[in-house]
Amino acid sequence: MKEAQRYLITSALPYANGPIHIGHLAGAYLPADIYVRWLRSIGKDVIFICGTDEHGVPITIKAKNENKTPQEIVDRYYKIINNSFAEFGISFDIFSRTSNKIHHQTSSDFFTKLNEKGIFTEKETEQYYDEQENQFLADRYITGTCPKCNNNRAYGDQCEKCGSSLSPDELINPISALSGKPPILKKTKNWFLPLDKIQNEFLNEYINSKKDWKPNVIGQCKSWLNEGLQARAMTRDLDWGVKVPLPKAQNKVLYVWFDAPIGYISATKELLPDTWEKYWKDPETQLVHFIGKDNIVFHCIIFPAMLHSHGDLILPSQVPANEFLNLEGEKLSTSRNHAIWLNEYLEDFKGKQDELRYVLTSIAPETKDSDFTWKDFQARVNNELCSIVGNFVNRVLVLSHKYFKGIIVHYDISNASDKIILTEIKKNQIEISKLIGEFKFREAQSELINIIRAGNKYITDNEPWHLIKTDEKRVGEILHTCLLITHGFAESALPFLPFTANKIFDLLNTPSKQSIKSGTQLGSPVLLFEKIEDSQIDLQIEKLKQKSNVKIVDVVKEKAETNNEIKPNISFDDFIKNDIRIATIIEAEKVENTDKLMKLKLDTGVDIRTVVSGISHCYLPEEIIGKQVCLLANLEPRKIKGIESKGMILMTENNEGKLVFVSSTDKAMNGATVR
Ligand code: MF3
Ligand code: ZN
Repeated sequence: MKEAQRYLITSALPYANGPIHIGHLAGAYLPADIYVRWLRSIGKDVIFICGTDEHGVPITIKAKNENKTPQEIVDRYYKIINNSFAEFGISFDIFSRTSNKIHHQTSSDFFTKLNEKGIFTEKETEQYYDEQENQFLADRYITGTCPKCNNNRAYGDQCEKCGSSLSPDELINPISALSGKPPILKKTKNWFLPLDKIQNEFLNEYINSKKDWKPNVIGQCKSWLNEGLQARAMTRDLDWGVKVPLPKAQNKVLYVWFDAPIGYISATKELLPDTWEKYWKDPETQLVHFIGKDNIVFHCIIFPAMLHSHGDLILPSQVPANEFLNLEGEKLSTSRNHAIWLNEYLEDFKGKQDELRYVLTSIAPETKDSDFTWKDFQARVNNELCSIVGNFVNRVLVLSHKYFKGIIVHYDISNASDKIILTEIKKNQIEISKLIGEFKFREAQSELINIIRAGNKYITDNEPWHLIKTDEKRVGEILHTCLLITHGFAESALPFLPFTANKIFDLLNTPSKQSIKSGTQLGSPVLLFEKIEDSQIDLQIEKLKQKSNVKIVDVVKEKAETNNEIKPNISFDDFIKNDIRIATIIEAEKVENTDKLMKLKLDTGVDIRTVVSGISHCYLPEEIIGKQVCLLANLEPRKIKGIESKGMILMTENNEGKLVFVSSTDKAMNGATVR
């Protein structure tokens, strides 16, 4: 990518159906923020665009499960997400939403333009349809058995067990997640983007010309292109999203991956109603998308195909996609709650935004997947931020106060060793800048710490604490040099550690971009970072074990193994006191702020009732709706988390230690007694 004056930087629009975790931050937001802060610091014209992606099927599923409207869901998460980003100093110029009117208009116009240019092919295909619910089923709404690994809980678009991407017609025994019944195939017409054609006309060449894209990005693009692209439907039979602007497309919306990237354009318009075009139409503008690797095909292939077809708009110059961040050796997982959520982190580590920013950049998955562990977090904070950075800044301030009442003394750099160290630091700064420009944030940040390492060595070598007895003037010079190092560090740290950098500017009483002046009063010495104690880390590891389902199987297994003694005999009369019935789960939703509880609505054949069950670490609500279970119906009602629970669902464990339902092998009637 060539150097330019104007930059349009985007971070992937997060789905508004859950909070943000450290994997998101490390993948697409923190690197973008570092890059943008750096561009601003070197005086570029730059805007930083983001917002929530508020359409798509998962949002409708979540709404259904929680008995809410999709709008209520996205309103809730927009707030949470927006707040987390603000707290971590992610410096978007705008954080918009795809449910905004301007976005509906912009993406609808985009579709119309492509349609009028005759880009789309209209095609009739057979899609799964739920006759009971009278609607077409999005891929996610169909479950069945995976043809590759036999997992019987695969989705119509993907099997989460073996990771293969699927299409619904590949599923064995497909079932509608809405009604629990097998769907039928029904004809429907949709508008397809002929990616096969666009590949030959444009995409092959476009991707081939991107010599400076990261190898992981180019690799994925080439593998898609080598397979040969296929036309993809840009409209869907669904009722949540941007309405297709055609009279003959009632009940259809734009495909979420069609409208979402257009969100970058809508948000720019919202931010700059009068001047947005210079960012989207002037070929001098460099468009850079920060994303995670699961978004590569959409940003490097489909969106460019859309932009190219549109004609008036610029194309992405760079897509520095990251690989994935793991957590304690396991894949981060929202559904299994194996994650560190930003809002939760700040509850336990108040004010320690830069600590997390620092560690996530140190281990950024720039070229391959990487692993966050709490122990490593502690080590990096304690050994690098505390012992190196905090310690140096503190020492300089303490000595300045001790010897010069905290006042910067006058000094025109003349001593040779001072010149050498200051030149070295300048070189470091230039190197940092160069590395950021190449999207090598990890390396750049480690160069940053080298500034302080050099400073520490300088002060140790010069021993001002000895010299003070004989040469006060020289000590003043040394401290002046140290303050210059500190200020230089803060300048370069600004993109990475904005909170700390600003604290340093305050302590030095010297803003960014100004040089330190003699006579300036320094702030009192403080510790910029606190050591993280073992107990804090143990607590986090324990918390993760508690809430995440990843290792819970082991715990369950242990219980099963120790439970090998048969209880004392009871009489038949005792047994039949248990009123066990067949019932069907008709609604399911996770109980908020709990790790395992799920609130279920059951049709018992006799009544409809609510039961709270500890299964949400093993099942998603959508996969159990429609399931027949056995219910101990006359268990005394209990209040659990304020919810009245009437009865208990019978569960056992499979050989992997996962909770599974006890149910009839043949279909039974709700209300039938189990004896
Ligand atoms: N919401 C998508 C995700 O979280 C990203 C959308 S990026 C955009 O994976 F370009 F489509 F906006
Ligand atoms: Zn599978």
